[in-house]
Amino acid sequence: MTRKILVLPGDGIGPEITAQASRVLAACQARGLDVEVEEALVGGTAYDAHGEPLPAETLAKAEGARAILLGAVGGPQWDTIEDLSKRPEKGLLGLRKNLGLFGNLRPAILYPQLAEASSLKPDVVSGLDIMIVRELTGGIYFGQPRGIEERDGERVGYNTYVYSESEIERIGRVAFEMAQKRGKKLCSVDKANVLEVTILWREVMERLAPEYPDVELSHMYVDNAAMQLVRAPKQFDVIVTGNMFGDILSDAAAMLTGSIGMLPSASLNQSGQGMYEPCHGSAPDIAGQNIANPLATILSVAMMLRYSLDEPALAERIEAAVGKVLDDGLRTADIAYPGTRQVSTSEMGDAVLAAFEAL
Ligand code: NAI
Ligand code: MG
Repeated sequence: MTRKILVLPGDGIGPEITAQASRVLAACQARGLDVEVEEALVGGTAYDAHGEPLPAETLAKAEGARAILLGAVGGPQWDTIEDLSKRPEKGLLGLRKNLGLFGNLRPAILYPQLAEASSLKPDVVSGLDIMIVRELTGGIYFGQPRGIEERDGERVGYNTYVYSESEIERIGRVAFEMAQKRGKKLCSVDKANVLEVTILWREVMERLAPEYPDVELSHMYVDNAAMQLVRAPKQFDVIVTGNMFGDILSDAAAMLTGSIGMLPSASLNQSGQGMYEPCHGSAPDIAGQNIANPLATILSVAMMLRYSLDEPALAERIEAAVGKVLDDGLRTADIAYPGTRQVSTSEMGDAVLAAFEAL
């Protein structure tokens, strides 16, 4: 059966970068990838057209798709929407929740051609290749009860940090399997010295470990993990952690590479259905100028081919094409430095396509 891919360009630079990624997807179709591609609205653009950041039609298409490619959502013109449930970000959260996308894969890779972009010394980061596996549909961002209320004459805000054993186990399995395919090292990050929920987290990870005897499991408190990521990031292979710690650590790890425009991500559910998107946002400051870096979105297509479509050869071909373009010295403005050739969003797309075809 032909699998469906849903492209959701979204807001800001979203349409510009997904346009380039869609061209790469089309090149894969020309090489035999059997998929049907359609587009729909999400985020602020969907709100403007339908009054909803995640219209029912978009959600229905998403549910029927094997994989979703998302640009980015949000922008200042929607920050004043009073009803928080209508804000663009709710479109993303709604997709994650409705599709049960609990497994967030956030690679932090330092491309050798971009070593100068990192704020860390070359010997500390060169060759960096970390995969952070973040639980995405549970933890303190979703726990009940939550709210702000009056208690003893002052307002109190509260959230609930909760994980069930089954939630921990399923993200644990994603991480152990990922470690098996990579460097066979898994570091589980928690705060088991203070938080009961992460004592349980640690216990479940320990219980799973014997099923993956080839993987070396270690544990680290989140505060130490933050220090270690900056001090000696190459000690890590795969990191697994909960929603909030993962949010923060994955952004920190991403920044070690210095190139937000280069980093893809995947969010998967139990059946391998996934949403793929760049780690960056909608970059309203540069939207509509044809200068955004499309490589994170193009590399998200590679992740899609690997994790949802079982096409590792095409994924590698895209990654190799990106490497070739960087080798050739082509750079969008965000990763340009003296001696490189600055190109636009669409010229970068042209170059990746040419390299993809030439390989
Ligand atoms: P951002 O990632 O959009 O931008 C941060 C900085 O990085 C800006 O200077 C931007 O120009 C630059 N940048 C980002 N992507 C780039 C690319 N591909 N090429 C070149 N430069 C790039 O984060 P910011 O400014 O905090 O948020 C802007 C909007 O995006 C907000 O409305 C925010 O809510 C939304 N956002 C959406 C996300 C998503 O859809 N997953 C994630 C993060 C933010
Ligand atoms: Mg974040």
